[in-house]
Amino acid sequence: MRVGVLVSGTGTILESLLGGTVPVVVVVADRKCRALEVATQGGVEVELVDRADWGGFGPDFDRTRYTRRLVEVLQAHGVDLVAMAGFGTVLAEPVHDAYPGRILNTHPSLLPAFPGWHAVSEALAAGAAVTGCTVHVATLAMDEGPVLAQEEVVVLAGDTEVSLHERIKEVERRLYPATINRVLEQLEAAR
Ligand code: GRF
Repeated sequence: MRVGVLVSGTGTILESLLGGTVPVVVVVADRKCRALEVATQGGVEVELVDRADWGGFGPDFDRTRYTRRLVEVLQAHGVDLVAMAGFGTVLAEPVHDAYPGRILNTHPSLLPAFPGWHAVSEALAAGAAVTGCTVHVATLAMDEGPVLAQEEVVVLAGDTEVSLHERIKEVERRLYPATINRVLEQLEAAR
């Protein structure tokens, strides 16, 4: 089984995948980011499919064509399972056609609470006593799809977005690789 990881950011979740037993064969980024350096240092192949080449972040962004290119890259590396790890682009239909039920995501809240990019600050602003993280199958709708694993993280007095997110990420770095490996075992058994 071959896993492709999609990244956009600092890549600390990626580090947890590379440091374990997840068979990562390629790391694909949608922009230049630290995660690409993490991948290179980890000895994994990297690919930059830069949004800037498909219209960037404005209204000109061609999501479908961008997604098609991304699928080509994943398929060229023989990827069986896609794992998003802090990936900042919502992908279009072609990736779900190519990898139905085989795209995973980790999200820093207890979905369905606080979907979207600001999950941690929104949980704080809402005065939540408990938040956490969710590993789920990604679908066309952002932060939806069957939940595979969830774990709670208690909000502490004086928590900031940074401190709370870091504690959530500590859990993600354990829960995400474990869940990916569980999915891989199931896919292997179904072969
Ligand atoms: C994680 O909290 C993940 O759930 C969210 O983005 C964060 C990525 O962290 N989608 P990092 O860039 O790997 O440190």
